[in-house]
Amino acid sequence: MLRAEVKYPLAGSFQRAEGGDVIKLCSNESPLGPSPKVVEVLKREAESVGRYPDSKAMELKEAIGDYLRIDPSRVCVGNGSDEIMDLICKAFMDPGDKVLIPIPTFSQYEIASRVNGGKPNFVELVNFEWCTEDLVDELNGGRLAFIARPNNPTGNSIDEDGLKGLLETGKLIVVDEAYAEFSGYSVLDWTDAYDNLIVLRTFSKSFGLAGLRVGFAVGSPRMVEVLERVRPPFSVNRLAQRAAVAALGDEDFLQRTINLVKEGRSYLQSELSDIGLRVLPSDANFLMASSCPLGTNAPQFCEYLAQRRILIRDLSGFRGAGSKWVRITVGTPEENRQFIDALEEFRRGKNDR
Ligand SMILES: Cc1ncc(COP(=O)(O)O)c(C=O)c1O
Repeated sequence: MLRAEVKYPLAGSFQRAEGGDVIKLCSNESPLGPSPKVVEVLKREAESVGRYPDSKAMELKEAIGDYLRIDPSRVCVGNGSDEIMDLICKAFMDPGDKVLIPIPTFSQYEIASRVNGGKPNFVELVNFEWCTEDLVDELNGGRLAFIARPNNPTGNSIDEDGLKGLLETGKLIVVDEAYAEFSGYSVLDWTDAYDNLIVLRTFSKSFGLAGLRVGFAVGSPRMVEVLERVRPPFSVNRLAQRAAVAALGDEDFLQRTINLVKEGRSYLQSELSDIGLRVLPSDANFLMASSCPLGTNAPQFCEYLAQRRILIRDLSGFRGAGSKWVRITVGTPEENRQFIDALEEFRRGKNDR
């Protein structure tokens, strides 16, 4: 059997509509998109696309180093953090190795493991809570673990002691901090003490550059050197490199995005709870909620909203999430309000029947 024939989730298969007047709250993108400074730089840079990008992405690594106060030799950039997950499996895993994946979580961990010949070892988060003992036990027979912190879709995180427990096993631990700017916490500093730790970050969320595909890994210089050896030299294109540097340079815009998301998150959390939905507390730019109190399941509820051109994520296809849960990305205040109005309408329609 070809590796690509192995059954795993189809990336992006949920994306049913683009642009237009659709309210897109299904992919955890930024409600504000990119900084205007990024757009300016992209326009300026467009004429230079006849030239290859800097294969070492030095300017970008230095800008990331300044932003996080780390040495650029600890940074590997990639075509989205998706690419880096794949590189990690290529570089540090052998065919047949077990990869610990607590579920429900981001589907790309499974895809990266399987296409590189690894065997995902799924451990369910009972009641969507993190139980370190279970994870440490399962990790002992494996090669590496992918831990999203905060986790997508639950929005919560393994606590610091739990994470230390995993690191003390000596196995490679990949901590994916895609939503770190919204959570306000990070274990980047731990990469000095633990050379079995790789932290992933992305420009797709708080920086609003999802369409350009830029992510990065932070780890020991030795780890980073290995990743750089397996990375295709031009995987982060010219425009993406320049845009990411410009995004890092606009701290005000970043802060505005973070504030808007936090306010929107509180608004949605309280409105959803008032309507009677069970909502999990979230440190990210999305909320996981159960459609159960509405007397429906996730696919039906998402379909109802899609007909009103509001897209949220049906989690019934997410391994380990069950059939009742949905994920809602925090949008602009107007988008959030329209989503809540549609939800109220749905509930009224149910009650009238
Ligand atoms: C936990 C997590 N990591 C990574 C990503 C994707 O990052 P990138 O766009 O850099 O590939 C996502 C996207 O939803 C995510 O939820």
